[in-house]
Amino acid sequence: MLSTIDVKKFNTLIEINNLINSDYSDIHVLLTQILDSAARLCEGEASSLLLRNRETGELYFEVALGMGAEVKKHTLKAGEGIAGWVVEHNKSIIVNDVQSDKRYLIEFFEQIGFPCKTMMAVPMRIKDQCIGVIELINKQNDKYFTQDELEWLEIFSNQAAIALQNARSIERAWEKIRLLQDELDTEEGYHTVIAKSPMILEKIELIDRIAKTDSSVLILGESGVGKEVFAEQIHLRSLRSQEPFIRVNCAALPEGLLESELFGHLKGAFTHAMGNRRGRFEMADGGTIFLDEIGDLPLPLQAKLLRVIQEKTFEKVGSDISQQVNVRILAATNKDIDVLVKKGEFRSDLYYRLNVLPLYIPPLRQRPEDIPELAAFFLKKCTRKLNKQFDGFSDDAMEAMLSYSWPGNVRELENCIERACVIGKTRRIQKDVLFLRNEVSVPEDETGGNRDLKRAINIFKAHFIRKTLEENRWNQTETAKALDIQRTYLSRLIKELNITNPKEH
Ligand SMILES: Nc1ncnc2c1ncn2[C@@H]1O[C@H](COP(=O)(O)OP(=O)(O)OP(=O)(O)O)[C@@H](O)[C@H]1O
Ligand SMILES: [Mg+2]
Repeated sequence: MLSTIDVKKFNTLIEINNLINSDYSDIHVLLTQILDSAARLCEGEASSLLLRNRETGELYFEVALGMGAEVKKHTLKAGEGIAGWVVEHNKSIIVNDVQSDKRYLIEFFEQIGFPCKTMMAVPMRIKDQCIGVIELINKQNDKYFTQDELEWLEIFSNQAAIALQNARSIERAWEKIRLLQDELDTEEGYHTVIAKSPMILEKIELIDRIAKTDSSVLILGESGVGKEVFAEQIHLRSLRSQEPFIRVNCAALPEGLLESELFGHLKGAFTHAMGNRRGRFEMADGGTIFLDEIGDLPLPLQAKLLRVIQEKTFEKVGSDISQQVNVRILAATNKDIDVLVKKGEFRSDLYYRLNVLPLYIPPLRQRPEDIPELAAFFLKKCTRKLNKQFDGFSDDAMEAMLSYSWPGNVRELENCIERACVIGKTRRIQKDVLFLRNEVSVPEDETGGNRDLKRAINIFKAHFIRKTLEENRWNQTETAKALDIQRTYLSRLIKELNITNPKEH
């Protein structure tokens, strides 16, 4: 036990307790304060707080005071040095003649330019598990560390461990809250739309213009291109944005149920109709209705829909009374509706009414500029959902994504990244976990195919150069060196590929 209760030490401990109880906004600052107090009280010239990387077992310097910034670049392997010994044995230690201790890392201290003479190190524990080490180095005035000081340091180390544990559980709780919030957002709210390619930016501009009108819009495009996402945007950018946006999937229900879903029904209108029910059109009154998979709408319902568009009236199933609605209609399909009209499966008058403003969303393979942006967006989303850490994609992985043809479009990209996140073990997503079959995509025509390849290469080049610039803090000389190209050539590429430093904008 501590031999005497030192008032100064005791007061510092209370101060730290107050800090621990009040502020977790920056755990690094809190740990620094704890370490700084410990070093002052035990008269250490320098101090460090090392934490164990939970995956590799290596120790890294979370805080280092009084021994220069260089030290933070180093890590210690499991069991290495005196700190490593402390972790391995989960025990405190005083070494008052470091130079003759076998565990002393001569080279390490030489590299950081800080000669070590005396040292005291204690484990940081959470539920008896050692999660890190606090070390004090060189007792001031060439004195030795004492047993009493070691016990004080253990108390400080306990405080630091509690602080860290609390900060981690608060962080986890926040992650969970953010995740639940996201889930709520996507169920009731709207998707975030990612747009980078000129093709999609043009569509967004078009949407801005058509949003302000009340005309029907027919959204066309392959499966998974984002038709629903763009339908949401039309609503959100319209004057009806504060009113309901109601979605109906016309392919999901058989005709009878779909009719009651769309228009509602009166009590007893059919066997299972227990009470009066409002339909989707009624719910959307004042706002927008989105009829997905409109190509699957049965012919009798097509006639009723036409009537809503032309006369803005409808009747509930089982009722003769007409109801008025003020609803903007958006519809989408991935089918070739011209063919359906020709085959008599889709009414041509309804087609013309819906197709006042057609909006075609191009497939992902025609707009590769969107791939890196979408991929980064989905990666971030999955990272939060799975509570895993990822730093982006390897160059190979990015190249593979850019050259793949994405028959399932954005939905396929989203699934592919979610799967990669689940099985990925490295901080950077590697090509092999994407599982992209490297099939040769069929060019739409000879020149089209070549043009796309050149574009894909340029996008990759821009991505690669931007990443290297970031790694070199946008220093062009360093970046040119890293890329092994001339500085002048780099600056030409930056101009040609239109690479900009986001911090300067
Ligand atoms: N530009 C985009 N930005 C962000 N996410 C997008 C974008 N485009 C599509 N997505 C995502 O891709 C997925 C598929 O989009 P959506 O459901 O709108 O496609 P769709 O064209 O309606 O497909 P289908 O014809 O199969 O119904 C969704 O999860 C959506 O969030
Ligand atoms: Mg859809």
